[in-house]
Amino acid sequence: MKKAQVKATKLEDYVSPAFLVDHVDLTFFLKPEATKVHSKLKIRQNSDCKQSLFLDGDALRLDTVVIDGRVLGQDEYECGEFSLSIPDFPSEAILEIVTFIDPVHNTKLEGLYLSSGNFCTQCEAEGFRRITYYPDRPDVMATYTVTVHADQDSYPVLLSNGNLIDQGVEEDGSHWAKWDDPFPKPSYLFALVAGDLACCEDSFKTRSGQDVTLKIFVEHGNEDKCAYAMDSLIRSMKWDEERFGLEYDLDIFNIVAVSDFNMGAMENKSLNIFNSKCILASPDTATDFEFERIEAIVAHEYFHNWTGNRVTCRDWFQLSLKEGLTVYRDQEFSADMRSAPVKRIQDVRTLRARQFPEDAGPLSHPIRPESYIEINNFYTSTVYEKGGEVIRMMAELLGKDGFRKGLDLYFERHDNQAVTCDDFVAAMEDANGANLKHFRLWYSQAGTPEVEANWSYDAQEKTFTLTLDQFTAPTPGQDVKQPLLIPFTVGLIGQNGAALPLKLEGENGDKQTTKRTLQFDQDHQIFTFVDVNELPVPSLNRNFSAPIKLSTKYTTGDLAFLMGHDKDAFSRWDAAQTYASRLMLKMVKSVQEGGVAEFDSQYADILAINIADKSLDPAFLAQMLGLPSIDYVTEQMEVADFAAVEKVRSVFKAGIAKALYGQFKELYLAGKEAAAYSPDSDSAGRRALCNTALGYLSVIENDPACLKLVVDQFEAADNMTDRMAALSLLADIPGEEREKALKAFESRYADNTLVMDKWFAVQATSTISNALEEVKKLLTHSAFSYKNPNKVRALIGAFSGANPARFHAEGGEGYRFLADSIIHLNGINPQVASKILAPLGSWRRMNATHQKMMKAELQRILDTEDLSNDVYEIASKSLV
Ligand code: TRP
Ligand code: ZN
Repeated sequence: MKKAQVKATKLEDYVSPAFLVDHVDLTFFLKPEATKVHSKLKIRQNSDCKQSLFLDGDALRLDTVVIDGRVLGQDEYECGEFSLSIPDFPSEAILEIVTFIDPVHNTKLEGLYLSSGNFCTQCEAEGFRRITYYPDRPDVMATYTVTVHADQDSYPVLLSNGNLIDQGVEEDGSHWAKWDDPFPKPSYLFALVAGDLACCEDSFKTRSGQDVTLKIFVEHGNEDKCAYAMDSLIRSMKWDEERFGLEYDLDIFNIVAVSDFNMGAMENKSLNIFNSKCILASPDTATDFEFERIEAIVAHEYFHNWTGNRVTCRDWFQLSLKEGLTVYRDQEFSADMRSAPVKRIQDVRTLRARQFPEDAGPLSHPIRPESYIEINNFYTSTVYEKGGEVIRMMAELLGKDGFRKGLDLYFERHDNQAVTCDDFVAAMEDANGANLKHFRLWYSQAGTPEVEANWSYDAQEKTFTLTLDQFTAPTPGQDVKQPLLIPFTVGLIGQNGAALPLKLEGENGDKQTTKRTLQFDQDHQIFTFVDVNELPVPSLNRNFSAPIKLSTKYTTGDLAFLMGHDKDAFSRWDAAQTYASRLMLKMVKSVQEGGVAEFDSQYADILAINIADKSLDPAFLAQMLGLPSIDYVTEQMEVADFAAVEKVRSVFKAGIAKALYGQFKELYLAGKEAAAYSPDSDSAGRRALCNTALGYLSVIENDPACLKLVVDQFEAADNMTDRMAALSLLADIPGEEREKALKAFESRYADNTLVMDKWFAVQATSTISNALEEVKKLLTHSAFSYKNPNKVRALIGAFSGANPARFHAEGGEGYRFLADSIIHLNGINPQVASKILAPLGSWRRMNATHQKMMKAELQRILDTEDLSNDVYEIASKSLV
């Protein structure tokens, strides 16, 4: 089979480019089926010996090749399926290439394509080679001039990177615009947009007085849904100046929202292109969660201007250099805009839900991978979210000021360069006189460290001894693991809830700190605290100081105590997660042994204490009341049994609901009194609490009053958050109300494609027993399309990735359905196909029957004709 020839790219094989490009001059004549691309490159040799010039290309029709004005004969170059090479290329020359491309049939959405009739590009990671022949690697940085010609009526807006320097109209009805980007950039940051778009405009004055015009382009009719994104952009620009001293560097910043997009958004220099899902919002169409996500992603892409664009990656193994750092920056921004503890809780939830399973499965890789077949497969939770955690740990170790000094030095040294993760760490070290040699292991070692904490208190000596052990299980390609340097933040809490001083044995002076970060860097390490005057409860890995799995010998009494007293909001919440999971796992065990799952009302009593504590922020209380997910609980089982966990979790939830019926009703009614809708953090927090309470009330069986509350909220809601919250509760309750609500929602939003995605997803994630049948029916719904990634994710992705009990149902129809979908999508959009494959790779955790069915589906995928590299890599790695 063809797949035997697939070649992996390896970090150790990196060689610097033989030729560099100083300037790129592109001219586009845009036509949906045959766009002509004229590229003029100023090329210079970068090595001592004479070499062939090698250019990447994919799906291009080559027309002409010209060197310094001379047209080359066909025997003077070699054109392969994915390359163009020119032997004995001069040490300096102007190379002109004319190619034709076919945007309208580009369903991969990489390179130049059409979305709702508008031209747009996506070049990261290797899309530029689908536009023209080029050394398509990030360490080739050039300035760009781009001229775009297109029909004026169909494409009145013509955009590219940098500044608009000239424009004109032709007699044949076309017009053109010429853009110039003065900052050298890698090809993956190139962008072009041409279409009939509406525009929202605002402006920003930088700290040094530069006026920046801000524009957001959207499809006509969506102008009223840009305000929040624009506001987020302005706040991001200001925040980056204040927090990191980073200013914007051009006088124009454009954002374009498109409906067909493989990911969330793209940071192209001064021309960010967004999935419209991550821009458009109004109270009637977007939930609070979506407002929050828009704010975070707009910030993320804007922050890339420094961390990614001004300083970029030498090669794609360094992806976390820009992504981990930018994730850290957007998390810090959101923490400042909203509640910092709640933001941290949400981020850890995501890390545990997505990155931990990835790191424990067949696709586990370090944040700086060593090898890949298809780089698109490495835009992972590990590279992004764990990468962000690694940056956060450095910030914790060096302190806020130390981290800032390191970042300043990083920009001072590397502005306009393509660099490595090592360069970043070196800047952190040098700016602080620190040694991060041991810490660097986080970049190369995969897997989540498991830390076990044990302790004892000596009342006589007044010492508290904390013993830490760390262990990382082998991951593919890494059998032996070394101990990592783990910043482990601890506190000791006295019996009345007071923070006790933390003084380590042998430390002199009167250090009176009550919170400190231990440098835990051995397999086994003992920390002894002295002058501990009473028996404390330790609070561990506070604020999730390191991305580890922690196991402790906490008694249920300790956990209850922490849930009521820990001053560290994250650890307080985490104690609740640990406690609830433990109780649920106990229930699962008793069910599996033929007993009944009985709810232990003690847990409800502790929640009641939290509810009664009026000092708690509603958003935080909503988190305290949120139960661990089915996935989180199941992950702690030797052999996963999603059906049992789902069952037990609902008994557990109903138990809490019954025990705290009065409190939930009160919370709900109090929350309902709130004023008119506003997407701000406090209002969103109040709604989150209110809807959490409603969620509990909705599971009380045979109580028409409770069901009525949900139905009433659905019908009376004046905003999408409340409407959607009610709809997703109703979606889990079979019956007339469910069908009626789904119908009403569908007819109300039939014309809003983004809202219809929510309608698809709510049905795909429903706990009703025939969810899969419903999903299959929805594939034929007129609003569904395999060509639109948002639709695929909303229906197929949501079912297989967020409805574990139905996906893993007996019989294996869920597996067959996913494999069928992937095989179909492989021919349309391989990147999207491979992104939804991961759930099939979790077979090791299942029982033998399920293992067999899942492996058979993986094999069936691998046997597909014309399998893309994207799908091949994930499927083959998942099977071994
Ligand atoms: N660099 C983008 C980001 O993190 C990610 C991205 C957008 C991307 N579109 C892509 C990556 C397509 C690969 C392919 O913001
Ligand atoms: Zn990014």
